[in-house]
Amino acid sequence: MKIYFSIALSAAIFTNVANAQSLFDYSAPATGSAKCALINVIMDESGSMGGDQTFLKNVALPKMATELHSSNHNYSDVFVCSSGFGYSRTNNAQAYRHLGCTTYNSAGVIANSTALAWYANGAIEDGWYAMKHGMQDVPSSINGTDLLSHCARVDKNLILVTDEDRDDAYSNVDATNIANLIDTNGYILNVIANYGINNNINDFGMNIGGGGSNSTIFRFDSSAPDNHMTYQDFRPYETYVTSFGGTHPHYTELIVDKPGAAWNINSLRSGGLRAQTFADIFVDIKVKEISNGTGGPSGGGGTVRVGGPEAGGDPHITTWNHKEHYEYHGQCDLVMVKDPTFADGLGLYVHIRTKIVRYWSYIQSVAIRIDDDVLEIEGSADAHDDQAHYWKNFEYQGDLDTFAGFPVTQKLPSVYKRTYTIDLSSKFPGQEITIQLYKEFVRVKLNGNEQVFGNSVGLLGDYKTGKTLARDGVTVLDDFTDLGDEWQVLPSEPTLFHEIAHPQFPELCLKPEDPRGERKRRLEESSISEEDAEKACVSLKDPLAIKDCVYDVLATQDVDMVGAF
Ligand SMILES: *[C@@H]1O[C@H](CO)[C@@H](O)[C@H](O)[C@H]1NC(C)=O
Ligand SMILES: *[C@@H]1O[C@H](CO)[C@@H](O)[C@H](O)[C@H]1NC(C)=O
Ligand SMILES: *[C@@H]1O[C@H](CO)[C@@H](O)[C@H](O)[C@H]1NC(C)=O
Ligand SMILES: *[C@@H]1O[C@H](CO)[C@@H](O)[C@H](O)[C@H]1NC(C)=O
Ligand SMILES: *[C@@H]1O[C@H](CO)[C@@H](O)[C@H](O)[C@H]1NC(C)=O
Repeated sequence: MKIYFSIALSAAIFTNVANAQSLFDYSAPATGSAKCALINVIMDESGSMGGDQTFLKNVALPKMATELHSSNHNYSDVFVCSSGFGYSRTNNAQAYRHLGCTTYNSAGVIANSTALAWYANGAIEDGWYAMKHGMQDVPSSINGTDLLSHCARVDKNLILVTDEDRDDAYSNVDATNIANLIDTNGYILNVIANYGINNNINDFGMNIGGGGSNSTIFRFDSSAPDNHMTYQDFRPYETYVTSFGGTHPHYTELIVDKPGAAWNINSLRSGGLRAQTFADIFVDIKVKEISNGTGGPSGGGGTVRVGGPEAGGDPHITTWNHKEHYEYHGQCDLVMVKDPTFADGLGLYVHIRTKIVRYWSYIQSVAIRIDDDVLEIEGSADAHDDQAHYWKNFEYQGDLDTFAGFPVTQKLPSVYKRTYTIDLSSKFPGQEITIQLYKEFVRVKLNGNEQVFGNSVGLLGDYKTGKTLARDGVTVLDDFTDLGDEWQVLPSEPTLFHEIAHPQFPELCLKPEDPRGERKRRLEESSISEEDAEKACVSLKDPLAIKDCVYDVLATQDVDMVGAF
């Protein structure tokens, strides 16, 4: 239920909403205890790639997995996913296919090699489309393990392997979109491509900093320790690094000023000790990147979710950058996010209305204001109710093709699940606001980087630091009851909900009496027993997901809650 009882702000920009429950949610916090790595390979499947594919499959990935599992790094789980692009028989315009995900054990043995069964038989090669979809297509659960409930962190690495530039088979993105998406999803990108660094095949890789003019180059040198040395080059990299056609604007630009690196596929192809050194350094650097803890979105990632195991449905709030994770038990209208300067002064206000039911609570509705437009959305407890319950500028079911000038789309994957998407692309390419409903429970995703939400204040804290700041912008409130109360909507703030609900300031937020004690008593009295709930949830494989499910079924007394996992 944590999936649906939530308000998540973040980063999963291109999540396929209809399948959201089965895909990995980049915006949600990892709540388990395992140390996990996720390596996502985006592989060119054109005819010339066979050797590079073999290198990755037989040398680099097994080595990486072994090293990550070893006591040098202590990863308990190494997941690998791959997607191919450019295979001539793939039946879509972008010649893209997702091959699946699996695990590596500590001996570097892959559990299901189908995930890396690439072809080498070429067609259209659109690496942007493949990276976007390769990230999107990661499932929430790999080989029976639900990543977010099993892992305490998921350190993500993206490897693009290609020997050409990009064929444009998808014009809805640009390089900035893709770079932002990689960042907000929390990946570090490495590009293995057709480079000539100083026309020297011994220069097998480079990290590019200084806006393109301060690169650290890795050079094969059999007389040096570990057969390599590094040096800096302060010229603009385009002046001494050759590539295949548009490789630089298409792919190299994506790693400038990032921790990832560009790697020379020709050094790899040359074989011998040089290729072996390439492999050693590639693995070494990638393992360092991965273990550097890049697990979360670098921007975004604040969440408010209601439900989950710890408190049986009380709101759980995770601030920007996952810095704090707290519960707030009150019922009232709250300022989740506020930024009067949003989008060159249009302004953004997101208010949530929480509701206590018996001993648990949830987010009942959300109201958003951008510019002079107000959109309020709520769900419905009636599983047969297929009406859209929203108010546009206080008018029930008012015209909703656009909101504050941004296009809005609605999807209805089933009667009791509904999604609204506000596409912010005209101001912020690729960014959007999504509201998902599951029965009466509301979830909002604000998918945006620092450019979009960097100035926001509210329950989610300071965007850059995640600090739980009071309204004065300085005081850090460590008591989360104080923090929630602090962000109760004030009369000086805009009225966004069409109906005034009790309480309104100066009346303070309502608090449940002894939520945990009452909860315990109610569970003992409830008509759906713990055994019934366990039976209903047993089809879920992950033990932590089962635990969440049992709590949620008991809290709501609704066996159908299993469907929310
Ligand atoms: C990994 O775990 C082992 C055994 O607990 C420990 O000795 C080692 O220091 C750990 N390594 C790291 C990098 O934490
Ligand atoms: C291996 O992965 C493929 C692709 O995801 C899948 O179709 C197949 O069922 C898997 N094999 C096993 C034994 O699970
Ligand atoms: C799942 O992982 C285990 C342990 O690595 C492995 O034995 C099993 O074959 C894997 N199953 C699939 C379907 O990948
Ligand atoms: C160039 O980059 C290196 C490595 O990141 C850094 O140590 C060095 O300070 C940078 N030099 C300049 C002049 O910016
Ligand atoms: C590790 O993270 C630190 C701090 O974010 C950064 O300065 C450093 O370059 C990173 N190292 C690698 C290998 O990514």
